[in-house]
Amino acid sequence: MIDQRRLPRRFEYLHCQTLDEMLDAIRSMAIRGAPALAVAGAYGMVLAALKASTGNVRNQAKNAAELLIASRPTAVNLAWGVNRMLKIVLNESISDADIPDKLLVEAHLMAEEDVQINRKLAENGASLINDGDTIIHHCNTGSLAVVDWGTALGAIRFAHEQGKRIHLLVDETRPRLQGARLTAWECEQYGIPYEIITDNAAGFFLRSGKVNKVFFGADRVAANGDVVNKVGTYMLSLAAHTNGVPVYSVFPLSTLDLSIPNGDRIPIEERDGDEVLGLEFHGEPVAPVGAKARNPAFDITPNGLITSLVTEAGIITPPYDLNLARCVYNNSLEGK
Ligand code: MRU
Repeated sequence: MIDQRRLPRRFEYLHCQTLDEMLDAIRSMAIRGAPALAVAGAYGMVLAALKASTGNVRNQAKNAAELLIASRPTAVNLAWGVNRMLKIVLNESISDADIPDKLLVEAHLMAEEDVQINRKLAENGASLINDGDTIIHHCNTGSLAVVDWGTALGAIRFAHEQGKRIHLLVDETRPRLQGARLTAWECEQYGIPYEIITDNAAGFFLRSGKVNKVFFGADRVAANGDVVNKVGTYMLSLAAHTNGVPVYSVFPLSTLDLSIPNGDRIPIEERDGDEVLGLEFHGEPVAPVGAKARNPAFDITPNGLITSLVTEAGIITPPYDLNLARCVYNNSLEGK
């Protein structure tokens, strides 16, 4: 995997040989972004099965699944990816000796499918983008956050490759700076014109009348269409809604959790306060010695602030409770 902690200054690959190394990569955010986490989780299961002691593959893989799912609790894709692998582990018709190979084949398949799904949802999202649009984008939702293409940034990249002239306002996305570090780096690769703004400046630009759209991804979407995404999404959506700017959340159906009725029931990961306090100004820590911080990594954007949800199966409009269930049902029929 590309080590996302080092970008944009250094482009380095990280090689994980064990489950513990994969868990560390996920927890420390060497790899991050909901769909990328699903695939990392799947390969984590492969590593656990490959290193398991003889006669104990199923138990060790089940333990690995618990550890992986708990390693980043909000993005449901991680649990989705691991549970898909767990079906193989629990399938009694597969011998212990065959489990690692079967898991590896499934992980490769998941990675390939991710590219196809993202390309499709990027194409769907691009249909909402007009030539000349100025768009505010939150967090990193590009190819780094998936296997390839991306969700919201995938749509923007797709529109850019169609020849639409887009100007992107990339918000920094405090505290981990996925926008300033990763989205800006991806824009450099694709040649998408962009400027970095502080998260606090979004309201100013939205009120100016010069921003046409807001695009972001999702880490988990509840059955009623509430979107849990990188912290700051809620404030951005409030400011956009107040100023009549359309808001789009772009995600694969694996991000949808129909078992959760609304966003308030989704677990929100709270990360170490050091991520907030680690900021330096003129080479010195910003906060006083001994300062404490709170660091929720995600927030909940109520469905009423979101203009449409964009998936590989199409663009979904309100009422979301009805239309999301219908979309999943139709998509499952098409898959048969
Ligand atoms: O904490 P992160 O960087 O893993 O959070 C990522 C996001 O919030 C993305 O917006 C989200 O995963 C959807 S884009 C693929």
